[in-house]
Amino acid sequence: MLSTQTLLTAANEFGTPLYVYDASNIRLQYATLKQAFRRSDVKIFYACKALTNVNILKILEQEGSGIDCVSINEVKLAMKAGFTAKRIIFTPNSVGFDEYLEATALKVNINIDNLSLLEEFGHHFGSSYPVIIRLNPHIMAGGNIKISTGHVDSKFGISIEQVDLIRDIMERTNITVKGLHIHTGSEIKDLEVFVKGLELVLDQTKHFPDLAIVDLGGGFKVPYKPDEVGTDMEALGQKLADTFEAFEQSTGKKFQVWFEPGKFLVSQSGYFLVKANITKQGPSRTFVGVNSGFNHLIRPMFYDAYHKITNISNPDGELKTYNIVGNICETDTFAWDRELNEVRPNDIILFNNAGAYGFEMSSRFNSRNRPAEVLFTNGSLKLIRRRETLEDILEGVVLD
Ligand code: LLP
Repeated sequence: MLSTQTLLTAANEFGTPLYVYDASNIRLQYATLKQAFRRSDVKIFYACKALTNVNILKILEQEGSGIDCVSINEVKLAMKAGFTAKRIIFTPNSVGFDEYLEATALKVNINIDNLSLLEEFGHHFGSSYPVIIRLNPHIMAGGNIKISTGHVDSKFGISIEQVDLIRDIMERTNITVKGLHIHTGSEIKDLEVFVKGLELVLDQTKHFPDLAIVDLGGGFKVPYKPDEVGTDMEALGQKLADTFEAFEQSTGKKFQVWFEPGKFLVSQSGYFLVKANITKQGPSRTFVGVNSGFNHLIRPMFYDAYHKITNISNPDGELKTYNIVGNICETDTFAWDRELNEVRPNDIILFNNAGAYGFEMSSRFNSRNRPAEVLFTNGSLKLIRRRETLEDILEGVVLD
């Protein structure tokens, strides 16, 4: 945990709105996963869509993590951070064959989640480029419907009921399948969801003679609300190891297990700092208007997500109930009816758990600059992305 003093210093030195990340927390989360899965042959691939600042990628690279990328640019950022091709998985969705070709030129692991692309890939490469296939296990799980990806109506993966069609493609094209992958959603606390997913995948492994990898995706829950608990990683590690060991005993087959966590690795490391611009007393609500909005942290408006919010510059102020709102030109509410120590203009307001899908999902809506990013590492604050300016917004615009 970063201290209030460190966060206030960061706001003072670098201005607000500001994202601050704690390097040691990222390392700790990685170590927690390694420890929890110690009984199995596990490799962690950080789902970098959560936060792609190359300085953050470098931390996980140094820890020994692999990396999961969903676009060719993410692959290139990963390489910039020092990840070698073998430690990268390319797991896109709804991309064209050309993007796959670019990824194969970089020799990264390829994940395919569509029958026609699999066929095209197979005709192009035959058995020369073994792939991983994403299955849709028809499991409904995740924090809310927008982040549930493994149910029958989801666009992701090849239905588990279409494995015979995959087999036909393997026969026709000679393509080698080296891994099976599922990812059922984000913020999954129920361990049984992971166990059920694993059992469904293990059951399909008999159809794939060259299989070496079972990839169970990401989706571990981190606690956002004060009374919430996250996924019990230690218990999950034990349960999955039990399932794998039982399978090994009955079939003699052993697989390497891959995971792709995003939130678990970086969410808690991140702090978002904004400044109160105004307070407004309406007939039914008191508003705190801050110098940011859903253009900088979209999770509350997009997923009804909860982030803990505190007034760190007036910690002893009287508790009052506020709607905390942003400055965007449409409904832009970070929190409804939230208790905060009295907010005065210029107070510094902190959002916790903002490392994952915070800066990464930010935009320039309303032509506002995106925030700066700072890393707290080895006891000091280091700027890792400068605040944008009007020049950044104009860059790329073609003027007469
Ligand atoms: N693997 C795949 C194939 C994924 O699609 C995702 C996330 C992950 C791994 C990592 O999931 P995580 O461990 O971060 O839950 N923007 C949303 C979350 C969307 C997740 C999309 N896919 C949010 O802010 O809650």
